[in-house]
Amino acid sequence: MSINRSVSFTGIRFDNPFLLSSAPPTESESNILRAFEAGWAGVVTKTIGLHPVVNVVGAKAKFMRTSPEDAYVSMKKRPGAALHSSWNWELISDKTIDWWLPRLRRIKEAFPDRVLIASIMAGSGNDKELKNWQHLARDCQDAGVDGLELNFSCPHMDRRDMGSNIGKDQGLCSVVTEAVKEAARVPVWCKLTPATAEIEVEAAACFRGGADAIVSSNTFPSIPLIDPETLEFEINVDGFVSSGGLGGPAILPLSLAKMAQMTRAFPDRSFSGIGGISDFNQALSYILLGCGTVQVCTAAMLDQAVGPNVIKRLLAGLDAFLERNAQRGWTGVEDFRGLRRDRIVSQSDIRRPDAADYHSGYEVAEGYAPQTSLSG
Ligand SMILES: Cc1cc2nc3c(=O)[nH]c(=O)nc-3n(C[C@H](O)[C@H](O)[C@H](O)COP(=O)(O)O)c2cc1C
Repeated sequence: MSINRSVSFTGIRFDNPFLLSSAPPTESESNILRAFEAGWAGVVTKTIGLHPVVNVVGAKAKFMRTSPEDAYVSMKKRPGAALHSSWNWELISDKTIDWWLPRLRRIKEAFPDRVLIASIMAGSGNDKELKNWQHLARDCQDAGVDGLELNFSCPHMDRRDMGSNIGKDQGLCSVVTEAVKEAARVPVWCKLTPATAEIEVEAAACFRGGADAIVSSNTFPSIPLIDPETLEFEINVDGFVSSGGLGGPAILPLSLAKMAQMTRAFPDRSFSGIGGISDFNQALSYILLGCGTVQVCTAAMLDQAVGPNVIKRLLAGLDAFLERNAQRGWTGVEDFRGLRRDRIVSQSDIRRPDAADYHSGYEVAEGYAPQTSLSG
């Protein structure tokens, strides 16, 4: 039986389920062209806005490492230390929509069969802002992009009506998605922040607005560590720091938990998983939870900026996995997507030495049956 790497996701055909996420690897035409040459099936552009943004002085992103000797997590480079996470406080693209449009056109002309998704962001406080979303959506689709990803997740926006502040407000999630859907002829994905208690609530709001897929996770809100010698934050400007975003291996289990909340609530909808992926084993967890595609940022940043070796590993891992499971009749991603989604249950549904001893955290009330169906 022959292996089929391709997937169909929100009506778009991808050569394989692996994309570069919206971030520095996709911030320029040359990076995106190199990414397609390396074998990525799709890219989501660095988030595009209407107005120019100005980043902080100095480093916008750094990597934290840890070592078995001291288990210390630090941005300081030490020999033998392993990657723990990325930390960033980078804003959206510092290039405007007018800079992007001719480049989107040229990228699509050079690689008509690869998938180009434009990540876009505007405010959401009034009708003029909603029209800005529609303006961005129309311009990008007229330039030939295959889909739109709405950034409801950037964790370091000052404005209350932008980025993750939209993703924390189910009303705004619905309204903005609906506004973009009115203008869009291409599929619309919503990238949600993981910084909410019940992400399935915001996912439901996006679906009500007409979203074709949910993407998660963006980076988790976090601050850098304080250097024990200097007592300064490891990244700071004039001694000051603001909340930024954590990515990479450290967020993998956290992001899987967020994804599972959504795929269990909406088993028939489309999801794209991000967070801590650097080879196929991690991508597999997202797919087994129900994701149809996955996206990569931190691992690609550390591999020649666009991850040529990461995509090689992902493709080799997928092929080897399908070959290993050929006797089950599996030939492609759809054959195992979602296979472990229903294995996440309540505490009370997990077997214990003697089921009669467990009362879901309640006192044993004489004369009453234990409330085993309540979650802990
Ligand atoms: C430096 C940096 C810049 C980023 N910029 C954006 C952005 O403009 N838009 C966006 O949706 N996500 C952005 N992200 C988030 C990534 O796309 C991704 O969701 C996150 O890093 C988790 O994936 P990872 O664990 O593979 O890094 C950025 C991440 C980093 C590290």
